[in-house]
Amino acid sequence: MNRNEPRHLISLRDLSNADIDWIVRRGTEFAAATDRPDTLLAGKVLGVYFSKTSTRTRTAFTVGALRLGAEVIAYGPGDLQLNTGETVEDTARVLAGMLDGMVIRIAGDPREIRAFAAPGMPVVNAMSADEHPTQALADLTTLAALFGGIKGLRVLYVGEGNNTAAALALGLARFADTTLELRTPPGYGVPDETLAQAKHLARRSGSTVVERHDMADLPRNADVVYTTRWQTTGTSKPDPDWRRVFAPFQVNEEVMERCSGARFLHDLPAHRGEEVTAGVLDGPASIAFEQARNKLHSAMAVLEWCMVR
Ligand code: CP
Repeated sequence: MNRNEPRHLISLRDLSNADIDWIVRRGTEFAAATDRPDTLLAGKVLGVYFSKTSTRTRTAFTVGALRLGAEVIAYGPGDLQLNTGETVEDTARVLAGMLDGMVIRIAGDPREIRAFAAPGMPVVNAMSADEHPTQALADLTTLAALFGGIKGLRVLYVGEGNNTAAALALGLARFADTTLELRTPPGYGVPDETLAQAKHLARRSGSTVVERHDMADLPRNADVVYTTRWQTTGTSKPDPDWRRVFAPFQVNEEVMERCSGARFLHDLPAHRGEEVTAGVLDGPASIAFEQARNKLHSAMAVLEWCMVR
C-alpha cells in the first residue's frame, strides 16, 4: 500500500493478518487502559453517517473519537444531499476536503461505501449488507481479552449466515489453529463466495471453517457459542414462513448444556425468546454486554489504525 493513501476499513478481506492482529491487540490495550489517550486524534474531525439504526456502533465510534481527542459531526439518514440526488462520489469528494475520516452505515450495497472511499479520506464500514467488519474486530478483541489470545479457539456460531457471521468467519480465520463451526438454517447460510474465502484464509492459518444446516451433533468442546438476531438491521425475509426454519436454531439452555463450559456471545440487539433465551443471555456464561462495551475499545483501535498510523 502507498503509505500516502489513507487506510480504509471496508472489508476484512482487504486487511492483512498483521493489520487485524494490530487492531485486536490495540483494542485489548484500550480495554485494559486506565489512562485516557486523548490526543491521538487531536485536531481531526470525524464524520459519522448512519442511514440505518444503531445503538452500539454509532455510539462506540462517536465516543471513541471524542476520547481520542477528535471532534465529531453526526449525519442521520435525512441530513445529506444524497437524499436529493447528489451522487456518492460528489458527496465524498466534498466531504474529503473537510473531514479527516468517515464512519458509515448504509446496511445496503457495499459498493456505496467503497465509492465514499475513493477520494482519499479514511472510511470505515460500520455495517453493510454483506459484512459487519467492525463487529468482528470487537468480537475478536473480546475473545483475545477473555482467553488471553485467539490461537486455538473453537467457536460455534448458530443462526443466520448474515453480515456478522461473514465478518466473524473472515476474521477468525486469520488466527492459527482456530475452528469456526457455523450452524445456519437451510437457505440462510453464509454466501458461497464469502464462505470459500474464509475457508481459504483458514487453510493458510492451519484453521478450519465448516458450515452445516442442522443442529445435530453439536461440538462438545466449543469455547464459545455465538448467535445474532434473526432479523438483521436493514433486511427482511421474502419467505413469510421463515421463523419455522429458524426455530430449531435458537440458543437455549439445552444448547449451552451440550457445549458445557462454553462462553456465550451475542452482537446485540437481542430478541429474547427468538434467537436466544433470556436465561442464556442473562446467564453466567454470557459475556454479551462485555462484548458490547468492547465495541468502544475496538472502535478506538480502528480509528487509530485508519487515521494515525
Ligand atoms: N451490533 C451492532 O452493530 O449493534 P448496533 O446495530 O446497535 O450498532
